[in-house]
Amino acid sequence: MKRVFLQTFGCQMNERDSERVLALLMEQGYREVSLPEEADLIVINTCTVRKKPEHKVYSLLGRFKRLKERKPQLKIVVMGCLAQQEGEGLLERFPQVDMVIGPDRVDEFNEGLEKVIDGDRVCMIGFKEDHSQRVLLPPFRSVRAYVNIMQGCDNFCSYCIVPYVRGPEKSRPSQEILEEIRLLAKEGVKEVILLGQNVNAYGKKSVGELSFVELLRKIAEIPGIERIRFTTSHPKDLSEELILAFREIPQLCEHIHLPFQAGSNKILKMMRRGYTREEYLQKVERLREVVPEIAITADVIVGFPGEEEEDFEQTLDLIKRVKFDGLFSFKYSPRKGTLASRWPDDVPEAIKARRLEKLQSLQRKITLEKNKALEGKVLEVLVDGCGEREGQLRGRGRCNRVVNFMGPLDLIGKIVWVKVKEGLPNCLRGELLLEEKEVLYA
Ligand code: 5AD
Ligand code: SF4
Repeated sequence: MKRVFLQTFGCQMNERDSERVLALLMEQGYREVSLPEEADLIVINTCTVRKKPEHKVYSLLGRFKRLKERKPQLKIVVMGCLAQQEGEGLLERFPQVDMVIGPDRVDEFNEGLEKVIDGDRVCMIGFKEDHSQRVLLPPFRSVRAYVNIMQGCDNFCSYCIVPYVRGPEKSRPSQEILEEIRLLAKEGVKEVILLGQNVNAYGKKSVGELSFVELLRKIAEIPGIERIRFTTSHPKDLSEELILAFREIPQLCEHIHLPFQAGSNKILKMMRRGYTREEYLQKVERLREVVPEIAITADVIVGFPGEEEEDFEQTLDLIKRVKFDGLFSFKYSPRKGTLASRWPDDVPEAIKARRLEKLQSLQRKITLEKNKALEGKVLEVLVDGCGEREGQLRGRGRCNRVVNFMGPLDLIGKIVWVKVKEGLPNCLRGELLLEEKEVLYA
């Protein structure tokens, strides 16, 4: 049996692409191994969204070069956003690399690999006109599954590499999405996470296609699908119709990831986000008016070009006002080819680091406060595996929080009720409320 080692960087879309590659490789008789030393094939799924994940790939390539010197038959593939960005350049600079394949070419992975096995070096990048994507189930059984609904992005926020490496926005045909979800449901999947750079824009560019909310309603009709989530949403496209859908579609979980990126109007304008802080705050208010318990998470960048202390204060102020349930925060790093990369990266590294630390320490307090506020409440939890301690199970509430509690293994894959005993910095600790025979939705 052939063995593959696969390492993934970046977002959930990349995780899903890695799953698809693994599913394709399993069709060819590969199995996954956890050590690169054991592999006949190494696949690195790369990310270029910031400096850090990009640099990690280069250091890995150095390590794998030494491995290949000892084992010349080893094949190395670079896929994902760095592959799309650098293309042939990767083959030229890194003789150890056999294949470079971009995110829009994943379906053709095995065709490329065949050539590699024959001794060729292959570069497959660029964007297809086709909006379809092969229906491929995840290689491992789980109760939760990612489903691609869109590729690419047309927004061109000034800092962001995504439109360049993932191409123009394309909506996958809805029949294909629904077919994939029907198959997933038959396999026992209860929760689907719909993926796209800007899911609110689903269908807008395709004549006769369903709108995003219509797609959600169709998914909700599929027997067995008990939970629906989606990511990522752009605040400028968050419609009243979608906000109301949270109330109207019972399977739609009360959680939205709504990146705001900056709290100052000056910076938002330079980022080309298409909304003001006031508009963002209004959307949050409306969401909470319609769904008071909704969990809101977001992404934010510190140290964008021209960010002064007062702009950063505005970001902190927005965080205090919204009180996010979770926040992903990053130091700005210029990305080749983007509009902002033409402007001086003028916030010194030490100030970026200080601002990030201040912001994260504020958010840590808010997260803990919000987790503590759940103590005594009962949550519906989808159990997806074991917790860290002996006898402990782990699952997620509809709010997407991780909940650990003691319970029997046969509850894995089921939906149970858990009473929150303790709100911790990164998760909740709870107590199982009902016996298995009484579990709702089981
Ligand atoms: N520098 C820092 N963070 C960035 N992000 C995107 N581009 C950059 C950049 N050039 C962040 C944004 C985005 C998340 C996926 O990564 O917050 O939402
Ligand atoms: Fe990274 Fe963006 Fe590519 Fe995802 S789409 S892998 S975040 S660069």
